Amino acid sequence: MLWSFFLLCLSLFLIGLKARIYFRGQKCETLRDISNLTILITGGSKGLGQETIKLLAKFKCRIIFGCRSKPTEFLEKLLKTYPLTKIEYIPLDLQSWSSIKQFANRVNKEVDRIDILINNAGIMGTLTRQFTEYGIESQFGTNYLGPFFLNQLLLDLIRKSNCPRIINVSSIAHVFQALDFDDLNCEKWANSVFWSRIYTYRAYGNTKFAQILNGQEFYNRTGVKACSLHPGVVRTEVLQHQLSAWWFNLIMLIAWPIYSFFTKDCYYGCQTILYCIMLKDEELINGGFYKDCRLSKARYTSKDKASKLWDISLQLISKIESSI
Ligand SMILES: NC(=O)c1ccc[n+]([C@@H]2O[C@H](COP(=O)([O-])OP(=O)(O)OC[C@H]3O[C@@H](n4cnc5c(N)ncnc54)[C@H](OP(=O)(O)O)[C@@H]3O)[C@@H](O)[C@H]2O)c1
Repeated sequence: MLWSFFLLCLSLFLIGLKARIYFRGQKCETLRDISNLTILITGGSKGLGQETIKLLAKFKCRIIFGCRSKPTEFLEKLLKTYPLTKIEYIPLDLQSWSSIKQFANRVNKEVDRIDILINNAGIMGTLTRQFTEYGIESQFGTNYLGPFFLNQLLLDLIRKSNCPRIINVSSIAHVFQALDFDDLNCEKWANSVFWSRIYTYRAYGNTKFAQILNGQEFYNRTGVKACSLHPGVVRTEVLQHQLSAWWFNLIMLIAWPIYSFFTKDCYYGCQTILYCIMLKDEELINGGFYKDCRLSKARYTSKDKASKLWDISLQLISKIESSI
């Protein structure tokens, strides 16, 4: 009897351990010499961006990152630990057109080339309908259009690299997309009696879908290789907007042990980003969508959609520029 109980506990423990390892995801085992590369990443004050910078720092490459709040303590500690790595913070607010321009101006002045640009910064699920300073729905502006504009402003610098690449930190949430080229601000969803409650997740899905389409079209328009990825479900502050609702907070409080079990910490969350950095140029699939350190398949994409989104994004940029 005692033995059966012991065996049952042991089996449950082993199944649990196996499940935990499965949900934690793969570790990047691919390596190349990146010590001479200049890597620019958006975000970095916390979450996946910060962890990526931490992981990259030991490779002695040059890292430039941009976000709204400067993580002073993190930066000082990292610079002390890795004195041979150049890590610079430049303020960037992707919701402000002038901030994007100022950031790009500084990078264009201070950097001689960009080898890898990681579009990582992002927000998810704003509870109220918000807009960027340039009048675009805040998630679409922060996660897609702002970075698109920034990438355009940095294009000459990116092209100076021998093997440049763009990495878009997208998400599996792109499957929630309902991208409508005539309604990029998601007006119809927000005003629908039935759908307005979940509009914000649609809007987020649209941004992540747009990033994948962008990764597929980048090379055709610029000659620069690009890819996108899903980092996994990672315990970061990306849920902060939803957590400001009491009911969501309560659910998370109760479900936290289960949520923690099925999700990744930042170290594992960054592994697919690292993988896309570490792949040699000939190994990186242009326009590919990566997940768990391997090539995966994005849904609902097409060449037509990718091309149309690029054209519309250029038109939006001209419109915003001419209205300033
Ligand atoms: N965590 C997940 O489970 C998960 C899953 C799939 C995809 N992703 C994607 O991974 C990326 C990183 O998210 P995370 O989980 O690391 O979230 P996070 O912990 O909330 O970090 C978000 C980062 O984006 C920056 N950011 C936000 N708004 C910005 C703005 N207007 N201008 C410049 N920077 C801004 C933030 O810096 P400041 O606030 O200082 O500006 C911060 O460094 C996002 O694109 C997200 O969609 C995350």
